Amino acid sequence: MAKIGESEWIWRDGEFIRWHDATMHVLSHSMQFGSAVFEGIRCYDTPKGPAIFRLREHLKRFLDSCKIYRMDPPHSLETLIEAHRATIAKNGLRECYIRPMVVRGYGAAGMVPFDSPIETFVPCWPWGAYLGDAALRDGVDACISTWNRVAPNTIPAAAKIAGNYLSGQLVKMEALRNGFDEAIALGPDGMLSEGSGQNVFLVSGGVLYTPPIDGTLLPGITRHSVLTIAKDLGVETVIGPLTRESLYTCDEVFVCGTASEVTPVRSVDRLPVGDGTVGPVTRAIQERYLDTVKGRVPDTHGWLTFVHD
Ligand SMILES: Cc1ncc(COP(=O)(O)O)c(C=O)c1O
Repeated sequence: MAKIGESEWIWRDGEFIRWHDATMHVLSHSMQFGSAVFEGIRCYDTPKGPAIFRLREHLKRFLDSCKIYRMDPPHSLETLIEAHRATIAKNGLRECYIRPMVVRGYGAAGMVPFDSPIETFVPCWPWGAYLGDAALRDGVDACISTWNRVAPNTIPAAAKIAGNYLSGQLVKMEALRNGFDEAIALGPDGMLSEGSGQNVFLVSGGVLYTPPIDGTLLPGITRHSVLTIAKDLGVETVIGPLTRESLYTCDEVFVCGTASEVTPVRSVDRLPVGDGTVGPVTRAIQERYLDTVKGRVPDTHGWLTFVHD
């Protein structure tokens, strides 16, 4: 498993601080109650210099997560865009993972958070393929988790906040303990939801399917990119409820997310997906995705934010 990388500087509310100075009290509200809103964003080395993929959309979700939890960071989306560009430039990175966070600090004793100050951090560090290079090439072995995702109107699945990742940790730890690389969880209704940190797609008869935004999963930005790329490639897409067993009988499965990119799934619950090799639709979408983020094809959707002017 990957350990966190390090860079030198972290942006904190308009200033740069040293990596190891970005500390908080153990009794900060976010530590006690999981109230740290965050994002996971990637910057890629393109022929025109480092470019952040879909930064605006990630920051919109970031601020939406804050709104859901009544957090009001004093930074506009435009300020945060500049903060991201400046942090990568100051650290001299060409390719990195960015983990902006809005946290509630030290103050409130109980769960009512309003006596805790809000702080915004933008750390970034070099981070390669989340599931490994071999996973991108050959696919991963996945299982269906015994843990379901949250039900709608319990803990909002659309908010990317630390506490939500207790579910993902249970899903992922169980999968690893049982010898799988990844797990796909069902929603409370028994229909497919998402992976521990990815959205899920399947291909059947040349058509691409993915579950709807039903209150059990994170509306992934990569999911949206994949749906857009599929349309660009002329692949028919259907968003709708999917059964567990559809993963056993379809032709192709893949998971996607900022960290995981587009990762093929070669088996589910020890049953081979299709013939157990990476299928043509998955490969075509993966290639177009990687070509897009790495600036090897024209940025027709305006998805790249360059770090340098
Ligand atoms: C639970 C969960 N689902 C889906 C995703 C994919 O989201 P995105 O494509 O925006 O990175 C992530 C990754 O952040 C995630 O943590």
